[in-house]
Amino acid sequence: MDIENINIKSSIGVIGGIITSSESRRGILIPTLHKMQLENGYLPEDLLRLLSKKLSIPLAEIYSVASFYKQFHFTPRGKNIVRVCTGTACHVRGSSKVVDALQNRFNVKAGETTEDLKLTLETVGCVGCCGLAPVVTVNEGVVGAVGPKKLKGLIHDIEEGDDNGKS
Ligand code: FES
Repeated sequence: MDIENINIKSSIGVIGGIITSSESRRGILIPTLHKMQLENGYLPEDLLRLLSKKLSIPLAEIYSVASFYKQFHFTPRGKNIVRVCTGTACHVRGSSKVVDALQNRFNVKAGETTEDLKLTLETVGCVGCCGLAPVVTVNEGVVGAVGPKKLKGLIHDIEEGDDNGKS
């Protein structure tokens, strides 16, 4: 079965119908969670309940498995996933000020998502570009040497809905 090309809601029914062995059902769990996360941006509880029923895997076990992996989320995520590096080089170059500024401007704490879903703010360990410290990643992009001017541009882009986050 090509797990990449199936609609989750309908596919859950198909999967539940054809996968009978416990090992097979557990084997398809992670790829299905990936697909659900990709389509929804997170793992909605109603879909996890449906998956639990169709795969005959207890919901608690599904949560346990999904919780093990950092890439799975159980609440909606923002359009812009902004991660401020708080590794040593970035810390020394003022990343805590960047975190503070973003928290204050968007009224969220690190690890939270704004109510309008424009931003999920996170902190992260070294992202491997210490020479550019302080570093912020915005979705798949990297913004280095984040000083007041770049921070202002980043905030503007997020507020105006530009999700490339680069200024
Ligand atoms: S410490 Fe921030 S990129 Fe290495």
